[in-house]
Amino acid sequence: MKRSVLYTHEQIIKAIEGLAKEISADYGDGLLCVCVLKGAFMFFSELVKRMDGDVRVDFVRVSSYNGNKAGTLKLLLDLNEDVAGKDILLVEDIIDSGATVSYLTKLLSGRGARSVKVACLFNKPLSQKTKVTPDYCAFSLKNDNFIVGFGLDYDEQFRCLDHVEEVRFD
Ligand code: IMP
Ligand code: MG
Repeated sequence: MKRSVLYTHEQIIKAIEGLAKEISADYGDGLLCVCVLKGAFMFFSELVKRMDGDVRVDFVRVSSYNGNKAGTLKLLLDLNEDVAGKDILLVEDIIDSGATVSYLTKLLSGRGARSVKVACLFNKPLSQKTKVTPDYCAFSLKNDNFIVGFGLDYDEQFRCLDHVEEVRFD
């Protein structure tokens, strides 16, 4: 496996600062930020601490990515909070096929959320079958290469890197 740095810690933090400003400008008080575990944990903490106003947090976990992009998703950990009537921001590490975000958006809308928007650190537009357009995105990737670090893993490895690397398997 070959690994090479794609984004440094400084580049990522700068992009997150920008996102936090954008999001804070769009919302008044009362936003519920939902971290999609595990991958988004590092992005989530860097994002929410830079946001203004009354920001609440909750956590959700969906069955892990197994290479089967068409596979049915399972909710492994549900939210604590009642989402009815609330503005929700789903915070995801990376949008690949778009299945996770579509599933969670439908689930929370179905529970009566007032609005459901999506923030992601990375988007892979080339991987998506059903087009998912994140409302807030730090980096849009030019290819569908696999990346690790800053929360993102390869078989549970590399999550705790403070930067992001591209991995090649050739
Ligand atoms: P989706 O449901 O296909 O959009 O998949 C999203 C999930 O797949 C992400 O939350 C990640 O956990 C995982 N994933 C997709 N691409 C990558 C990658 O390049 N590196 C690490 N994890 C990835
Ligand atoms: Mg994830």
